[in-house]
Amino acid sequence: MSVRKHRIAVVAGDGIGPEVTEVAMELLGKVAKNRQFEVELKRFPFGGEHYLKTGETLSDASLAELRQHDVIYLGAVGSPKVKPGILEKGVLLKLRFAFDQYINLRPVKLYPGVECPIKGKGPEHLDYVVVRENTGDMYAGIGGTMMEGTDDEVAVQEMVYNHKQVERCLRYAFELAAARSRKTLALIGKSNVLTYVFKLWDRVFHALGEAEFPQVKREYYHVDAACMMMVKQPERFDVMVTTNMFGDIITDLGAVTQGGMGMAASGNLNPTRAFPSMFEPVHGSAPDIAGQDKANPLAAVMSLKMLLEFLGEHDAAADVDQAIRAVTPMDFDHMSTSAIRTALLAKF
Ligand code: NAI
Ligand code: MG
Repeated sequence: MSVRKHRIAVVAGDGIGPEVTEVAMELLGKVAKNRQFEVELKRFPFGGEHYLKTGETLSDASLAELRQHDVIYLGAVGSPKVKPGILEKGVLLKLRFAFDQYINLRPVKLYPGVECPIKGKGPEHLDYVVVRENTGDMYAGIGGTMMEGTDDEVAVQEMVYNHKQVERCLRYAFELAAARSRKTLALIGKSNVLTYVFKLWDRVFHALGEAEFPQVKREYYHVDAACMMMVKQPERFDVMVTTNMFGDIITDLGAVTQGGMGMAASGNLNPTRAFPSMFEPVHGSAPDIAGQDKANPLAAVMSLKMLLEFLGEHDAAADVDQAIRAVTPMDFDHMSTSAIRTALLAKF
């Protein structure tokens, strides 16, 4: 019998990126051994330090090399010595667009023992997933300025969507909702004001749902109402699907409700698998605590769990989940990275 083998590109990045990535990769080694599959890891140096040293953000040759992998694992990139925008555009957005990672998947799940900032809410109230469209909207880069620096200065940044982007994102969200027990999909928009774009989303949402996913219950919330409900009644939500910009904002709100940036994981997915998908903790390189053994590696470990699920290694993903559950009841906010690492690995 041939052994399952996965090729994983690892971009540890800057600051706490390498610290949390190390913990995740060590755990990966353990679960791979336990569940009898092989991983071929290849490490890439991209990030702020690499850019300062070489002038490369992410060259086309590097992209071609990354493409040879099944998935990419990213720690965090960002250095205080690099002007904001260079790495975001040159590494993160470049990867997202080149590999057509059109879904940004962000689970919002409260683990037992993690303090929830919403009074009276526990793990039974917070367990939903946000599907954020990841290629269109104001991120398309359509716009411009004129008469810059004068009182007449004009700045335009367009919200852009085509039918294909909307349909493939909704299809992914419906499939995800259909696979979950509550089978409920909420479209989050602003159809009362942004009438052109949400007319398209709304039409495709109902047409696709009716034709192909009749088992999935469809709901709609305006984005402002959704924010309120994410705090007041998060138990309402199962799967949420939304546009790129709204998704950017509401996922940070979701992250805070699940215990903060140290607890939030994400995947940038190309569900067709034509290109590698990328998994990363939501937080950045946290230069303020880098090198001090203070970073919480749980978000990075949760991202590993998502990566394993995407690869179809569900038993290994469940092992990682168990390891996380062994730590969250502890006072991990006051534990060092190495102490959390020890607790995560204790079972193996
Ligand atoms: P950040 O997420 O790095 O840090 C924000 C605050 O949260 C800091 O006080 C930090 O110490 C704390 N924090 C973050 N992750 C933590 C963890 N795992 N454990 C404990 N505390 C944690 O965001 P910030 O400060 O805005 O950005 C720092 C750098 O990271 C910038 O260069 C930014 O561009 C980059 N960045 C990169 C991202 C990526 O690689 N996808 C995402 C966000 C920011
Ligand atoms: Mg954000």
